Amino acid sequence: MNEDDLVTILNALTEPVFLVNSDRHITLANVAAEELFGGGLSGRNLVHAIRHPDVLDSVEEVLHGKARSEAVISMPGTVRTTYKVSVVRLEDNENVEGTAILGLHDISHVLEAEQMRSDFVANVSHELRSPLSALSGGIETLQGAARNDPEAQTRFLGIMEREAARMNRLIDDLLSLSSVEVNERVRPSQRIGLLTIVERAIAALETQAKAAKKPIRLEISDPECVVLGDEDELTQVFHNLIDNALKYSRENGEVTVSVEIRENVAGLAGPAVVIAVSDQGEGIAAEHIPRLTERFYRVDTSRSREKGGTGLGLAIVKHILNRHRGRLLIDSEKGVGSTFTVCLPLEAQDQKR
Ligand SMILES: Nc1ncnc2c1ncn2[C@@H]1O[C@H](COP(=O)(O)OP(=O)(O)OP(=O)(O)O)[C@@H](O)[C@H]1O
Ligand SMILES: [Mg+2]
Repeated sequence: MNEDDLVTILNALTEPVFLVNSDRHITLANVAAEELFGGGLSGRNLVHAIRHPDVLDSVEEVLHGKARSEAVISMPGTVRTTYKVSVVRLEDNENVEGTAILGLHDISHVLEAEQMRSDFVANVSHELRSPLSALSGGIETLQGAARNDPEAQTRFLGIMEREAARMNRLIDDLLSLSSVEVNERVRPSQRIGLLTIVERAIAALETQAKAAKKPIRLEISDPECVVLGDEDELTQVFHNLIDNALKYSRENGEVTVSVEIRENVAGLAGPAVVIAVSDQGEGIAAEHIPRLTERFYRVDTSRSREKGGTGLGLAIVKHILNRHRGRLLIDSEKGVGSTFTVCLPLEAQDQKR
């Protein structure tokens, strides 16, 4: 194989690769390496091309006889990228010091995933700790100060019951989130009528709506909306959205759920069923909107907690909709209200269940 072949092979690799000889000069660099460090790498002294001391140390080790060495470097840019640099020794008969081959592997995604996992564990622990400490506090009071005070006992047992229920809800939400995530790549295949699902979600929240004096109005423009979906998961989507509308809207405000078919929706190919849940609420400030579907993200944590919220509802909605190849759009105006719109690909009408 001649050098041209070698260059062609190296250029076919998407990861940056280059060779450094015993004079610490770059003898060969592929296109990906030149894109990363700038053109004209070949022939340059390594020290001038790459100013990362850890990489230079690894190259020295390898040129002094070590078989391989590794370093991690961060490249600043619009998005900070972290690379693992593998330096491997290539023996060279004419040259005792040999050649070092450097290969860069982008590990930013791995690091990001690790960070997300550890944030998630920290969040879950934090969320579990607050009801747990309320429970411990309650037990302590019942054993001590409230020992002979039936009124205080009733009050504390009530608080403890609420906190235990909150822990239960948190665990249920975490389990749904993980089961949806596991199946996210598998699109559900059951043909279902969406109207029934929406009606079921409204019926389940009727008592809550009455108690809050917030009527739920259903507006149907197209009754025949069939989608490919999972009934339980889609029920959960509308349950969560209507529950939010009831929880975060103005007193006596009305909640509207509208169902219609639209020929075009941005981001979806073909016609879609569009279900919009609107409230006359306090609305959400624009800076919060892009983050609402993050796990545990709440605009007002203490307010959401007080309403029994865990901040997982919209994260679950987003994952379920991804699995259904659908979209969630959020529109809100502070002081006016919010509309959460679910768009799902419409299934052909001719082959009903
Ligand atoms: N209709 C709405 N009007 C105003 N704010 C909303 C609305 N829906 C959601 N939010 C805001 O978004 C946050 C996240 O909502 P999400 O449903 O994910 O969590 P939650 O309601 O706090 O808890 P959970 O749904 O797990 O019980 C809420 O805490 C609230 O601040
Ligand atoms: Mg919610």
